[in-house]
Amino acid sequence: MPLPVTDADAWVNPLRSTEDKRLPRIAGPSGMVIFGVTGDLARKKLLPAVYDLANRGLLPAGFTLIGFGRREWSKPDFEDYVREAVEAGARTKFREHVWERLAEGMHFVEGNFDNEGFDQLAGTLAEMDSTRGTAGNWAFYLSVPPDYFSDVCHQLERSGLAEADGNSWRRVIIEKPFGHDQATARELNRVVNAVFPEESVFRIDHYLGKETVQNILALRFANQLFDPLWNAHYVDHVQITMAEDIGLGGRAGYYDGIGAARDVIQNHLIQLLALVAMEEPVAFDPTELQAEKVKVLRATNPVYPLNRTTARGQYAAGWQGSHKVKGLRQEEGFDPLSTTETYAACTLEINSRRWAGVPFYLRTGKRLGRRVTEIALVFKEAPHQPFLEGQTSSLGQNAIVIRVQPDEGVLMRFGSKVPGSAMEVRDVNMDFSYSEAFTEESPEAYERLILDALLDESSLFPTNEEVELSWAILDPILAYWAENGQPEEYESGTWGPAGADRMLQRSGRSWRRP
Ligand code: BG6
Repeated sequence: MPLPVTDADAWVNPLRSTEDKRLPRIAGPSGMVIFGVTGDLARKKLLPAVYDLANRGLLPAGFTLIGFGRREWSKPDFEDYVREAVEAGARTKFREHVWERLAEGMHFVEGNFDNEGFDQLAGTLAEMDSTRGTAGNWAFYLSVPPDYFSDVCHQLERSGLAEADGNSWRRVIIEKPFGHDQATARELNRVVNAVFPEESVFRIDHYLGKETVQNILALRFANQLFDPLWNAHYVDHVQITMAEDIGLGGRAGYYDGIGAARDVIQNHLIQLLALVAMEEPVAFDPTELQAEKVKVLRATNPVYPLNRTTARGQYAAGWQGSHKVKGLRQEEGFDPLSTTETYAACTLEINSRRWAGVPFYLRTGKRLGRRVTEIALVFKEAPHQPFLEGQTSSLGQNAIVIRVQPDEGVLMRFGSKVPGSAMEVRDVNMDFSYSEAFTEESPEAYERLILDALLDESSLFPTNEEVELSWAILDPILAYWAENGQPEEYESGTWGPAGADRMLQRSGRSWRRP
């Protein structure tokens, strides 16, 4: 039993932090340079997120945003472009005075990834440090394909921009794909880490910026209720689903040849698995969290034989609601003989005392029935039931479902007596919904992650080791698929290929219909 703490203890104890961790954290003097600012990600997500942060008062007064690119843009041209992106995509209300203040600190540097462009960038940053008080603190956001990482890092190093003096910082924020397999991920990490030490590298996995994903840790480690059940004694299996109804029109350049497993399982779904399965961290800080994630990822492997434990598919034409939609091979820009999978499912196991024998089923797909991401822990049946046969025939397995999106929340499914004189037990849901429980609106993932990078808070960013370990889990599955022909077709608007259903039926289980 801890001793009661008095005010006097608080005053004399120098180890006691007086900082209130619930207060919003505001970034210190700093600026951000976006490479690839005219791309989709910057327009749809990054620029609106910067505005939302400014609107919430979380950016410093002199915050400076530099766009770098090949366009011949003046400052007003850049401002117009950003304003349009903000008006279209910001989560919070557009307020003229917030915009004006943010726009004062916007500049565009025209250039290629060559010496001249970066020398000019270095000049602009030095000027901003003296006129806007950015104090030499710069985050470089590489919103460009990974083929350019090497050039940009090299130029940042050559022009002296990668290195801060003792009183300031330089950080790099990078976006997936972090490689194509473990070997290429290693090479990419080597290129980036040759210029930026690991503690200055922030790899974005935007799923980690989602509130519900962070709530997995709160649910597991702030409560007494769940932990006793969170293991192989009680859990029969875990299903992690990320279903999307959208197709891939307009994304051929990125997606054809990449596929669902590399696009989503390697990063988002394996990160979800790590958070659900890891042990309690010694403390809630980046080093301890990452150490636990690494540990669980090291213990994770595919279940063999892969012809029985994995499935992949490609969407064919069909109906999405009332719209007739094309198949992948008819989408603009895709190879008409493309073998890229738009649906991927696999079975993983975790070799630890907590999880031995519990299959983790991961699945993701485009053009499925609806957009939903959830993690379901499905429990074993009660070892004994004193009811008569038939009285529990409508009872399924108990489940805890973490709904990541949409309609964020946590659901518990258990059996309950149907009202009436007979004893009949049926499944019911107890449903906690974020939007009903809290009045605060959740920030967008990118708001959270950009702010964290400016604050040097790295808990929500996967490390180089985590990225390489995730590839090590997936590589054998990708190699098996590469040698085993076409993905199976599934009709758009359905729940994926029949092979995915068979994959679970083999062990007497079935996918949830979320
Ligand atoms: C991205 C993938 O990482 O996540 C996309 O590249 C996918 O293919 C997207 O559509 C989904 O993100 P969200 O936040 O809409 O679930």
